[in-house]
Amino acid sequence: MRLDKFICKSTELTRTEAKKVLKSGEVQVNGEVAKNAAMQVHENNTITIDGQQLSARGSRYYILHKLVDTICSNVDEVYPSILHSIEVDKAFDLHIAGRLDADTTGLVLITDDGRWSHNVISPKKQCQKTYRVWLRTEIDDDKLSTLVAKFDSGLQLQGEDGLTRPAILTRVAQADLVDEESYKSEVLLTITEGKYHQVKRMFAAAGNRVVGLHREQIGDITLGDLAPGEWRELTEDEIAQFS
Ligand code: URA
Repeated sequence: MRLDKFICKSTELTRTEAKKVLKSGEVQVNGEVAKNAAMQVHENNTITIDGQQLSARGSRYYILHKLVDTICSNVDEVYPSILHSIEVDKAFDLHIAGRLDADTTGLVLITDDGRWSHNVISPKKQCQKTYRVWLRTEIDDDKLSTLVAKFDSGLQLQGEDGLTRPAILTRVAQADLVDEESYKSEVLLTITEGKYHQVKRMFAAAGNRVVGLHREQIGDITLGDLAPGEWRELTEDEIAQFS
């Protein structure tokens, strides 16, 4: 890890403040003054500021139940970032392991451990993400088996090179069962990748339209009884899934 990052992780200092302290010559690595912010260090090095030894703070892992009209970004845009909700020190040093659109609700994983989030996000790791999807057009029994087969064999999304990876589609309810006007079918879709607007684009490619989207599960991690807008630390078992 870079020396300036190590300092930030193990103190209250921001990256700019860490760089200032480095310039001042107060930082030593294994007894030698170190001024290079990009110097690579690890936990076995003895790193001191003004003689005080730093100990690396462990990485942080959270789950949040995202509300609509919030965004999965480290910068506020039209809507506020979900990181405002995580009431911990230096929340904006965290990042989101698999973003959701502003109008999508549900499970978001948040961490400062880049390797861990790579294991969640990378299509090569084949981590399953399950979405509850509300659709404008009804999926009747005839359409269902065709659609299940299509999603399983992969869809060609506009602007993408290959087909989508096999996805599992299950119908939960139809309009006549749910008596709803805003949508005609409710389905669960499990995918193992996270292309831009992937779920919405998959249903668009299949001639339907997503009118509501909620992420329920990532790997074995679920929201459980976490209420909308709430967050908590992940348990050791949850963290271990992607370590
Ligand atoms: N797919 C989408 O289209 N949107 C999301 O927010 C997540 C997956």
